[in-house]
Amino acid sequence: MLKEILFASHNAGKITEIKQILAPFGITVKTAADMDLPDVEETGTTFAENSLLKSQTIAKATGLPCLADDSGLCVDALNGAPGVFSARYAPNRDFDKGMDKLLAEMAQSKNKSRDAHFCCVISLSYPNGEYHLFEGRVDGQIAMQKMFGADGFGYDPLFVPNGYDCSFAQMAKVEKNKISHRGRAMQKLLEYIKNLVE
Ligand code: IMP
Repeated sequence: MLKEILFASHNAGKITEIKQILAPFGITVKTAADMDLPDVEETGTTFAENSLLKSQTIAKATGLPCLADDSGLCVDALNGAPGVFSARYAPNRDFDKGMDKLLAEMAQSKNKSRDAHFCCVISLSYPNGEYHLFEGRVDGQIAMQKMFGADGFGYDPLFVPNGYDCSFAQMAKVEKNKISHRGRAMQKLLEYIKNLVE
């Protein structure tokens, strides 16, 4: 029975979210910060590889089941960039500058498509080597300019999900979570956990 999970993240927002989601199942969430573990370097070439790298390394090091996630924005006109490099693509992790860079590179590209998608892979690794992957994706368009709202982080002001005429940054958090890559991956993780508990 899954009683305790270690979440390999230092991101306070993600940690609060996962604790709230797993509390009703009686699962305690410890974090990399609680255990004083270092960040694992993301050397993989896919979201799944990076996510697994984090969860497998920490599951083996601690002997606890470990959850990790990796996500990013893939733009068709840039051959899928920034992709797994989404965090590092923004100069000094300044996403306002990162969005300017993205718009400038798209303007230079011969491919005039505005199609893009966000991807998220959540992995759950056990110390014995068993692992499970939960993937979520949301398709949309890159806006011609930033569309800021009350919420949002990262590239949210540039991303307009298909079927909407506002950016992720202009949507309420609960609305974004219903259709977002992370929300969808999380739903799949929840299904897996519900089946374990039942
Ligand atoms: P990581 O998953 O912590 O490695 O970070 C991936 C990067 O992708 C983040 O730093 C954001 O820039 C970007 N990203 C991932 N998900 C979202 C999202 O929902 N909105 C905006 N940007 C995102």
